[in-house]
Amino acid sequence: MPAPDVSVIGLGRVGLPLALSFADRGLRVLGIDNDEQRLAAIGSAKMPFEETGGQEVLDRVHASGRLELSDNIVDAAKARDIIITLGTPSFAHIEIDISDIRSALDELLPALGSGHALILRSTVAPGTTEFVAGYLTKKSGLRVGSDIFVGHAPERIAAGRFFVEIESLPCIVGGVDAASSARIGQLFEAFGAPIVQTTPVQAELAKIWTNILRYTTFALPNLLMMDCEQHDANVFEVIDLINRDYPRGGIASPGFTAGTCLRKDFAFSEERSKAPGMLLAVSRVNESVPLFLVDGIKRRLGSLSGKKIAVLGLAFKRDTDDERDSLSHKLVRLLERELADVTIHDPFVATETDSFEDAVGGADVVVLATNHSAFCTPEALSTLVELGTDDCLVVDPWDCFGAAQVFAYASEVVALSKANS
Ligand SMILES: NC(=O)c1ccc[n+]([C@@H]2O[C@H](COP(=O)([O-])OP(=O)(O)OC[C@H]3O[C@@H](n4cnc5c(N)ncnc54)[C@H](O)[C@@H]3O)[C@@H](O)[C@H]2O)c1
Repeated sequence: MPAPDVSVIGLGRVGLPLALSFADRGLRVLGIDNDEQRLAAIGSAKMPFEETGGQEVLDRVHASGRLELSDNIVDAAKARDIIITLGTPSFAHIEIDISDIRSALDELLPALGSGHALILRSTVAPGTTEFVAGYLTKKSGLRVGSDIFVGHAPERIAAGRFFVEIESLPCIVGGVDAASSARIGQLFEAFGAPIVQTTPVQAELAKIWTNILRYTTFALPNLLMMDCEQHDANVFEVIDLINRDYPRGGIASPGFTAGTCLRKDFAFSEERSKAPGMLLAVSRVNESVPLFLVDGIKRRLGSLSGKKIAVLGLAFKRDTDDERDSLSHKLVRLLERELADVTIHDPFVATETDSFEDAVGGADVVVLATNHSAFCTPEALSTLVELGTDDCLVVDPWDCFGAAQVFAYASEVVALSKANS
């Protein structure tokens, strides 16, 4: 293959769809990852994870021959444009962990030369793009803005919507100087979405605050759900009272709020916040929801020792196979610490789980942990009623069944969901 136009380092949930999207638009792409299994799957045209439409695009790109793969980061320098889509977790110290990015830069340094552009697509803490530009200059002597170009073009696409949103979501570009901004903007013009130029730090802030806004938006109904339980009130009725015909916005619905991005991106602000604690409190609220549900079950049933509890859903997000940082795992751990007999069903995830029937059969409690659409049907409710113990407790913070009860016995759920439909 002739020299690639663009390299993508890290073929994960962000990097692979991005690499495929460029290749699907005619660019020659070099995709780099250090996970041999992942490379083998992609090389044999098999999506290593679920992304709506991904398999079809991979099939097309595979047939076109425009995606080359490598496990060697240095190869990235064969392309003029190098995009980094590596993971950026947070340390437990409430601080971004940029070790993957740093080690990629160290590997790349000897191969970087005049004309390269280095684009951070990973989510990063404010100041990281300027750090990367400074690091490259310090270590290589290359001048940013004339020899090489550096900037941040954050990914804001939601899982499952990549191939739709890449064409429509405004693409934020924060180059460290005008030349870098122009160069990066030009690359992303391939997708046809509006390009919005800004500074690197504003691009970083816009991305993390997009996620902080969502994390906080969902913490409020979760806190309200806990407040309602304390006051013997119904959270869904209170939400309806708040929102009904109210012209100034509204409150979201409760649920498990986590996942690989929301759970850590707030820490990138919190690490040097002038008002420390506010976002930690938001995190604490969302992280408390599994324990709130376990306590609620115990209040109704007493000891959970030896009780069969079915957890429906391991993915952190509806209709996806992504289990990373899912609160379902936390729920399972907490239930196991109560000596409950836990069964799990999820039709999407890679982790092996019980069948729906085995999970709910003879269950004393069924918890809707993920609102997969397959769970939110009258048929799923009937099966659960038929196979669970007489009047098993249904825990439904998402209101999947439309009964508008977080905790209710199965017969009540059936009657209320019929009445409310
Ligand atoms: N997943 C999302 O929905 C999403 C959305 C927006 C932004 N982001 C951000 O994008 C970035 C990437 O997220 P992701 O979900 O794609 O992560 P991911 O873990 O799915 O992907 C990272 C990939 O990098 C590879 N990798 C790790 N170290 C490597 C190395 N040294 N050399 C080569 N490959 C290496 C891994 O094997 C993996 O395939 C993160 O900063 C994340 O916060 C993610």
